[in-house]
Amino acid sequence: MTYRTHTCGELNAAHSGGNVSLAGWVARVRDLGGLIFIDLRDRYGKTQVVFDQSEETAAKARGLHSEDVVQIKGTVRPRPEDMINRSMKTGEIEVSASSIDVLSKSDPVPTGVEDPEEPSDELRLRYRYLDLRRRRMSKNLLLRHKALQSVRRFHDECGFIEIETPFLIRSTPEGARDYIVPSRIHVGSGYSLPQSPQLYKQALMIGGIDRYFQLARCFRDEDLRRDRQPEFTQIDVEMSFVEEEEVFTHTEAMMQRLVKDTIGAHIDPGFPRIEYAQALASYGSDAPDMRYDLLMRRCDDFFRDSGFRAFENVLGQGGGVFGICAEGKGDLSRSERDRLEGIARAEGLAGLLSSPLREEGLSGVPAKFLSADRQRDLCRHMGAGTGDLLLFAAGPAATTQAALGRLRRLLAERWKLTDERALKFCWVVNPPLFEPDEEGGGLTAVHHPFTSPATADIGRLETEPLTVQARAYDLVLNGVEIATGSIRIHDSEIQRKVFRVIGIDGAEATERFGFLLEALRFGAPPHGGIALGFDRLVMLLAGERSIRDVIAFPKTNVASSLMDGAPSAMSNDQLAELGLKLIKKPDGR
Ligand code: AMO
Repeated sequence: MTYRTHTCGELNAAHSGGNVSLAGWVARVRDLGGLIFIDLRDRYGKTQVVFDQSEETAAKARGLHSEDVVQIKGTVRPRPEDMINRSMKTGEIEVSASSIDVLSKSDPVPTGVEDPEEPSDELRLRYRYLDLRRRRMSKNLLLRHKALQSVRRFHDECGFIEIETPFLIRSTPEGARDYIVPSRIHVGSGYSLPQSPQLYKQALMIGGIDRYFQLARCFRDEDLRRDRQPEFTQIDVEMSFVEEEEVFTHTEAMMQRLVKDTIGAHIDPGFPRIEYAQALASYGSDAPDMRYDLLMRRCDDFFRDSGFRAFENVLGQGGGVFGICAEGKGDLSRSERDRLEGIARAEGLAGLLSSPLREEGLSGVPAKFLSADRQRDLCRHMGAGTGDLLLFAAGPAATTQAALGRLRRLLAERWKLTDERALKFCWVVNPPLFEPDEEGGGLTAVHHPFTSPATADIGRLETEPLTVQARAYDLVLNGVEIATGSIRIHDSEIQRKVFRVIGIDGAEATERFGFLLEALRFGAPPHGGIALGFDRLVMLLAGERSIRDVIAFPKTNVASSLMDGAPSAMSNDQLAELGLKLIKKPDGR
């Protein structure tokens, strides 16, 4: 038996008169004064079926419920002119059913697939298979599939080899906690799930595989949010005998192709590049959103010795004054400006001083404390014209810039400054190699410890590590970090030095990374690469706000799978076999 001759999104007027067989889910049953219609759905679309041939089939149709799975046989016919639905692919026709077979009955569903209102996140994840029947979700999965195929074709054409690296590995540090898999055979030992294939792709380069890519699954035990999942996919790329420019060119060409293959849009290569320090200073973020201005400018000198005590005190303590010019927002009401200050405080700023620039000049604090010349120079410095609003905040540089960076995003959202369809890529380049670690005592790698220092800075690695630049780069799309990469260290001694700076001494380095240090001594080619957060990229292309909506079976923000109940309790037998025993944590968990 053939279940279906066509899908539910396929038939049109050209099929009129044909005998067809369709199979799918009942989206809707309508009883119009005795005449029964059903909309039959599959992932391709919906087809209207009418039961007007026999009372027996009509009676069967009357007993159907949403989400029952049926097969219908019948004849295609054009709809009467006034019943044509041009917004539907199959809107020109209907199928007059000669028979119907119920293939599977559905219990009343906890979440209606056709409900225009979206069910709660909890219901969507608990009944993910129902959620996947929604058009939005099947569209997203199709887009994801197209993106995957595009990446594969592109790399194949460019001579890259797709190689799978293992899941059961020794730890690769990427800044999160590892998921650990205890070993049954080696009781007391365990594997880590890879946070990324970083060390394996470097080993592949040493193995002479000079152009590698993989659609790699990565596992990270970290705090989750809209663009972070405990398991996610990277487009992982590594190349030998390359410098930054080749990685940029390759990645831009990949993006160009991928955007074309998925959403049919054209993007220009030659993405703008911005220095890491400049990104923090102008955008308050290492992932600048280039879709709108609201750039930050340092204004210390204008407020020094101005008599405005609040800012003078901050400057005296080594902090700074930062300004943002909001174009055309000079006419905001006092109460709206107070609301902005409230938002700024919630982001951790001590206050937000606002000053509209009117025909007669600035008002508020600058007008009161700055000379006319200074006011004029300040406006010029800020690029402000009549009708604009100047916003100022003062405080310690790093935290104030970061808070203003968040405020910048909130303002852009509030004022709807972003073109939602725009795709604005940029490279953020030349970050420092190290930064103080969270405990404050030592240093940690900004990217990861396999990143090469800038050649000119190698001499200062151990003497002035915080001044050393990394040969690293991030790719940012619409304010989301979608990729990071670097040119790697290919010299065992430099690698040891970098480990030393971040507090991994000789013995620990040998214990944890001995294989890498050894491999680097057997003829390691210069190499570099990049890894793109595939889920984030698909999320942006699909116009979604969470990567969950482009992952078939995602986890909640406490890393559980509501559909199958993972993680589940481990039985005593399982634990015993692994030589493990649970202890209660001090907090009782
Ligand atoms: P990194 O750790 O920056 O670099 O990861 C690369 C990209 O992966 C995405 N990403 C995530 N996406 C979803 N959920 C997560 N939890 C998550 N964590 C990261 C981001 C990020 O830019 N091995 C290096 C890359 C390299 O040097 O080649 C690495 O993994 O988009």
